[in-house]
Amino acid sequence: EKNWKGKICCIGAGYVGGPTCSVIAIKCPDYKVSIVDVNPHRIAAWNSDDLPIYEPGLDDVVKACRNRNLFFTTDVDGAIVESDIIFVSVNTPTKKHGLGSGMAADLTYIESACRRIAQVATSSKIVVEKSTVPCRTAESMRAILEANSRNGIRFDILSNPEFLAEGTAITDLFGPDRVLIGSLQTPEGLAAQKALADVYAHWVPRDRIITMNLWSSELSKLAANALLAQRISSINSLSALCEATGADVDEVAFAVGKDSRIGPKFLKASVAFGGSCFQKDILNLVYLCESLHLKEVAEYWRQVVVINEYQKQRFVRRIVHALFDTVTSKKICLLGFAFKKNTGDTRESAAIGLAKYFMDEDANVHIYDPKVTDEQILMDLSEPGISSGIEEVKKKITIFKDAYSAAEDADALVICTEWDEFKALDYQTIYQAMKKPAFIFDGRLLLDASELRKIGFKVETIGKPSPATRGY
Ligand code: UDX
Ligand code: UDX
Ligand code: ADP
Repeated sequence: EKNWKGKICCIGAGYVGGPTCSVIAIKCPDYKVSIVDVNPHRIAAWNSDDLPIYEPGLDDVVKACRNRNLFFTTDVDGAIVESDIIFVSVNTPTKKHGLGSGMAADLTYIESACRRIAQVATSSKIVVEKSTVPCRTAESMRAILEANSRNGIRFDILSNPEFLAEGTAITDLFGPDRVLIGSLQTPEGLAAQKALADVYAHWVPRDRIITMNLWSSELSKLAANALLAQRISSINSLSALCEATGADVDEVAFAVGKDSRIGPKFLKASVAFGGSCFQKDILNLVYLCESLHLKEVAEYWRQVVVINEYQKQRFVRRIVHALFDTVTSKKICLLGFAFKKNTGDTRESAAIGLAKYFMDEDANVHIYDPKVTDEQILMDLSEPGISSGIEEVKKKITIFKDAYSAAEDADALVICTEWDEFKALDYQTIYQAMKKPAFIFDGRLLLDASELRKIGFKVETIGKPSPATRGY
């Protein structure tokens, strides 16, 4: 076998582990990188031409190094044994029952990965916490690993939170704003920190590799996501005010963002933020604050999630009102189902919430998304709390392969995801095929409303006033 400078294992071949460690592999040809998962279908997909996640640029990265220094395998134990550095990037869903239900992170998968590492390791390891996890998880990982280690094997725990955003994962990983590595401030902890920094230094400038203590590093990840989400809830709360008063939220965001202390990013009003991280991380933060009896702090952050839900309900109320206060048996066409463009991921997508409200109103919901699979849509909408199950979903939901057929005969189009292709549609053709009056509800401030009005559409845009629905 080749004389590798080091061997890296990544436990969990998901949205975080897969792209992150593929980029490490392409940037560090002197390291052997094994990405392992307990799910054989996922691993098979990573080894095929049809990767399990859609992410622009990912295919090229994987193709360039797969089976050279990048390996996808279900042999979790084998990869643990041979590696010096082990990334743990398993899923950390929100708990569905028991203490902290609906808020706290479920650390079952982290714990079982750690127990596995302790059980099979035959030499010392650097174990890197890569999943987003609430503050002080590294401490639990350390306790499990130390209590189960044998024959003087050392485990040094590092926190190395991931800041990539889906849809831009590869560019984010190639040129990160910063890489954050937290460790215990002991000689061993600092040595482990340096070993991981040396990996990133293959392509990240040293001054962007930031080191700090474990708890600061873990909390920084929660804080970053909470502050980003807070900006969206702030602009979304203002979008309600804009609709009620006659201001235009895009203009307000533009003006505000010019202040260099505020900056222009993450001020785009929308139907709501989604994704696997924002809501989960804020709820983790709220739970953490509550556990520490910081009631006011918990309430402050909880409000970010409250506004996000409010925004979805508000949009639906506005749609129903515009459609003459009833959508029963009407065809409502949702364009986009992913939580943002350039991903097939639907976790916490606003479209799920909208579809739920329309199903509750007995509408016929047409759905088209360029990247989300039919199975995923049906599964998301069959969840408890969304519908009564697959029977109801199959009755009320129809999934289409293109926007034009989804829009045929529809009373309204609802833009849920800001896919570029929705900007380029031939709206003249769509208009002709729709029921009249034909409505477009733009939940992403994506389309040119004045052009659409020239065609004949009635257009309602988040954060933009409309006489018909003022105050809704
Ligand atoms: C503010 C706005 O900055 C300015 O654009 C507007 O025109 C008027 O209101 P001002 O109140 O004069 O200006 O000062 P500013 O620098 O914004 O500070 C306001 C308060 O926030 C001060 O008490 C300051 O100490 C505090 N502050 C500011 C912090 O506690 N932390 C910070 O990071 C920044
Ligand atoms: C986020 C963080 O950006 C990333 O750093 C972290 O590692 C994981 O969580 P992600 O959820 O993948 O990434 O995507 P992001 O671009 O942050 O978008 C999250 C949601 O906010 C999407 O639904 C997006 O549409 C929405 N959004 C984003 C807005 O509504 N307005 C904005 O201005 C920005
Ligand atoms: P994320 O968005 O955090 O990457 P994903 O759900 O996409 O989350 O990926 C997490 C992956 O971790 C899943 O593919 C899951 O099968 C895998 N996984 C969970 N627990 C273990 C474990 N103990 N060993 C190996 N893989 C695991």
